[in-house]
Amino acid sequence: MSVLLKSGTVVTTSGRYVADVYAEDGKIKSIGTNLDKKADEVVNCKGKYILPGTIDPHTHIAMPFMGTYSQDDFETGTIAAACGGVTCLVDFDMQMKGESLLDAIERQKAIADGKACIDYSLHPAVIDPRPEVIEEVKKACLQYGTPSFKIFMVYDFRVDDGTMIRLLEETKKYGGLVQVHAENFYMIQHMNAVLAKEKKLAPYYHAVSRPNLAEEEAIYRASKMVEMTGSRIYIVHLSSKEGLWKVKEARDRGVQVYAETCPQYLVLDESRYKEPKWNGAKYVMSPPLRTKESNVALWEGLRGGDIQVVATDHCPFDFKGKKDMFGKDDYKKIPNGAPGIETLLMLLHSEGVVKGRITLERMVDVLATGTARMFGLKDKGEIAVGRDADVVVFDPKAKFTITQKKLHMNVDYTPYEGMTVTGMPMLVYSRGEKVAEWTGDQMKFVGKPGRGRFVKREPFQGF
Ligand code: URP
Ligand code: ZN
Ligand code: ZN
Repeated sequence: MSVLLKSGTVVTTSGRYVADVYAEDGKIKSIGTNLDKKADEVVNCKGKYILPGTIDPHTHIAMPFMGTYSQDDFETGTIAAACGGVTCLVDFDMQMKGESLLDAIERQKAIADGKACIDYSLHPAVIDPRPEVIEEVKKACLQYGTPSFKIFMVYDFRVDDGTMIRLLEETKKYGGLVQVHAENFYMIQHMNAVLAKEKKLAPYYHAVSRPNLAEEEAIYRASKMVEMTGSRIYIVHLSSKEGLWKVKEARDRGVQVYAETCPQYLVLDESRYKEPKWNGAKYVMSPPLRTKESNVALWEGLRGGDIQVVATDHCPFDFKGKKDMFGKDDYKKIPNGAPGIETLLMLLHSEGVVKGRITLERMVDVLATGTARMFGLKDKGEIAVGRDADVVVFDPKAKFTITQKKLHMNVDYTPYEGMTVTGMPMLVYSRGEKVAEWTGDQMKFVGKPGRGRFVKREPFQGF
């Protein structure tokens, strides 16, 4: 199978140029002008961008959570991903009590097997940090191909600070990266008690219960542990300007603190919780949506380099049937999370590049090239000879009005309903195979379930 993309604008982190891109047997084989190649498929890409496929390193596929499961399985989730121009995702495998990290990885792989339509990898989430589990970090980094480890400072499955220190020590030795959901559990617990006493239980109070301070404190604490151990950390779903200050403060002193944010924290704000008809529940996620001031600060952090990655935290629950299953009268029981994998690239381009908040090159970095580097995906993330032919042919002028009806995620709403974006994928290739295409008014999946492969990742090489 071969494909020749002709006269497109190839975009890298440092610039753009017009070229042909030829891919064969899943790899990019040559890039140049007027390439003299015969191919099974030849596409005129004049006026289109040739982008590396987006990588989403933060998804929750079929995750057991808050009395239910996040709704996308590996088939629906990766179909939606492909339709949004995402050609690789890294999901969390949530360790169960008594399980080894390897067992957890194999369990999640079995769930993905035969279903994934694009390539995927896994981050073990450390839930049961027994001494032998901490020792397993070495194998996870050097053998299993999963050198990043998620820990939560909140939820029932949070770990304590001692565990974080032990993990930082261990990952430092073997090129591992600890990813942290940073919120102060006790501050939130206190706020929950105060709000319960005042009978403030509507979705809006979810946001009140998790103040910016709770994120700021947790990031500060985690950064100090990084400083003490000389290790490195990656803050997931950074949401607030105060949190960003703490990331920046640490980085300015040479402490290796990296950060990811998500479209919801860039594009949406806390006013959403006030929508009528209990609509606010659609945005119950942790951390919560913040103020417009935080939106602005996060774009600035992304532009300036203190935030290195944009991911989705894709974790969908139906508005009708899941969000209201237990939580109608109490925000604490509304499953936390929102859908987003399909809208990642379109939002970042439209809200970021088109509106002049980041350059196109920076977008490629935070959605693909930098993400691949951060997570050791050595064959992904760049339009370069030798890399996997994970490619998006992107029309920067195409318009699409986001609506749940035209998306593929297995959920009954999108937080971006009615928003018109400028710029859409036209063709999406995963290892040289076409998996999605634009039909004129929406994306269509044209790949095959089960073709996606588990990707072993390399230890952290520096950033
Ligand atoms: O609300 C969220 N973010 N749900 C998914 C779990 C997590 O904390 O990432
Ligand atoms: Zn989280
Ligand atoms: Zn998450």
